[in-house]
Amino acid sequence: MKIFLDTSDEEKIAYYSKHKFIDGVTTNPSILASAKINIRELIKNICKSVNGPVSVEVVGVSSEEMVRQGKQLAEIDNRVVVKLPANVEGFKALAELTSKHIKVNFTVVYTVNQAVLAAKYGASFVSPFVGRLDANGHSEGNLIKDIKQSFLNYGFECKILAASMRNVVYARNAILDGADILTVTPDILDLMMTSELSDLSIDKFLNDWSSLDGDKRYI
Ligand code: G3P
Repeated sequence: MKIFLDTSDEEKIAYYSKHKFIDGVTTNPSILASAKINIRELIKNICKSVNGPVSVEVVGVSSEEMVRQGKQLAEIDNRVVVKLPANVEGFKALAELTSKHIKVNFTVVYTVNQAVLAAKYGASFVSPFVGRLDANGHSEGNLIKDIKQSFLNYGFECKILAASMRNVVYARNAILDGADILTVTPDILDLMMTSELSDLSIDKFLNDWSSLDGDKRYI
């Protein structure tokens, strides 16, 4: 199971990479729109600071534009994985880019059908947006669990990249449902690592320790 960081914040990526907390990075046009430097330079910098795939999304509308942009993105760095949107034009571009051996993260996936077709047509990753699914009041059963079972049914090697992890409950459920990868924002990753009860227990231990006579201490 892998953790990707869902951000374009170079400092955060460097920090979590340094501590070996992350296995890759995902971005999307909204995340990159907040960039303060040239986005191509930013992508190069991110690829240098993380030891894993870096997802960058096309912004074309037609499959021809998506293919052209996907090829340009793939040329930036060999860690770049091209994000294509889950629509007909995206599926057309998927077939074309995978035929050129360009890795694709098929994104904004909201149904099992989209995920299975993406895997069939060669996507390396599918990104079900579970947080947005709930936020928009839709129910697609247990999307990640159903995609997982579908991929097992057909032997697909495509990885389920659970996305739109709006809180730690989404992360927990994605883990229980067998997602291969979770992409989370830095704050969610921090919350996944901590528990109020853990902090209370740690405080209790340290308080008890601090009251111990020096000659009884083992360290
Ligand atoms: O970047 C892909 C996905 O994780 C976006 O999440 O919270 O904007 O729905 P969110």
